[in-house]
Amino acid sequence: MSSVNSILVTGGAGFIGSNLVLTLQERMPNARLTVIDDFRSGDFKNLAGYRGDFVAQNLATLDWRKQFGDEKFDAIFHLASITDTTLHDQFIQTHDNVESFRRLLNFAKPNKTRVVYASSAATYGAASNPSVETNGAAPANVYAFSKAIMDNLANHAVKDVSGWIIVGLRYFNVYGPHEAHKGVPASMVYHLARQMKAGQRPRIFEHGEQKRDFVYVKDVVEASLRALEAKVSGIYNVGSGSARSFNELIDVLNSTLGTDFKPDYIENPHAHYQNFTQADLTSIRGALGYQPQFSLETGVADYMRWLYPKSVES
Ligand SMILES: NC(=O)c1ccc[n+]([C@@H]2O[C@H](COP(=O)([O-])OP(=O)(O)OC[C@H]3O[C@@H](n4cnc5c(N)ncnc54)[C@H](O)[C@@H]3O)[C@@H](O)[C@H]2O)c1
Repeated sequence: MSSVNSILVTGGAGFIGSNLVLTLQERMPNARLTVIDDFRSGDFKNLAGYRGDFVAQNLATLDWRKQFGDEKFDAIFHLASITDTTLHDQFIQTHDNVESFRRLLNFAKPNKTRVVYASSAATYGAASNPSVETNGAAPANVYAFSKAIMDNLANHAVKDVSGWIIVGLRYFNVYGPHEAHKGVPASMVYHLARQMKAGQRPRIFEHGEQKRDFVYVKDVVEASLRALEAKVSGIYNVGSGSARSFNELIDVLNSTLGTDFKPDYIENPHAHYQNFTQADLTSIRGALGYQPQFSLETGVADYMRWLYPKSVES
């Protein structure tokens, strides 16, 4: 959108949100940026160098009109969400994630403000083949359920209001700079790297052959920016397009960090666990021209240079 000059990002103090905000600031230096975040998992430190506005509010209860009056935004990126998938409180997870989105849509509707929101690969539940957007939702936990309801709300909204563009992005397993604040829900790439840098064998679930579509945050940001140009509404997968095993990830980390650790296999305590995720990218390639630029090897190398600048060679 060449005419964009005012962009709002929810969840901008978080992992993906802060990467997006800082890239928007760099690529669109004249755009006015506003972040909304209540810091429930995010951290102001992720926004070092940010020159825009910041509204510290809980979106699940925010009165948008009171906050912003008639102020118009050219686009809203909605990334705020409870992101701890092991938080099983059904009311809080569904209430906060869904009501935040409903309030945002109600604000965006009169001006048909473009909305790009984060859905999730979790909506697919258990899979053994690459997931295609037309597969029905099969949420295995309440986090995924809340995202599936958000997809339903988006689908209803674009049917009800012609010409309103809403793009949902089903991120797969994202890793990269600015995720440390997430603690346990941070990516496996982050946790395994930390263990290995501390001289410990990396701990993974038996027997490491589970496969994930690990996608680098820089690719996720590119896909999100492309959604600013989308001509029509849609819900798209955002992944690397490849499924790589936990064992392979440890090999990649060993070769990047110059270590030689064998995995320490532990029993998987989770009853419902995504043993396989892989994004089919046919739809987003066609609609948004998205093509991931990072393999697991190059993404991990880029990330480790950022995380351990003194010990990983360029
Ligand atoms: N990281 C991944 O692998 C991944 C995968 C699929 C989908 N997603 C989605 O991408 C988005 C960003 O995730 P992330 O990994 O950056 O997580 P994150 O926890 O770092 O970011 C979420 C941000 O939203 C804020 N937030 C949460 N609820 C809020 C509320 N009610 N009001 C205001 N702020 C609120 C948090 O404080 C945090 O800064 C989320 O919607 C998440 O569900 C992430």
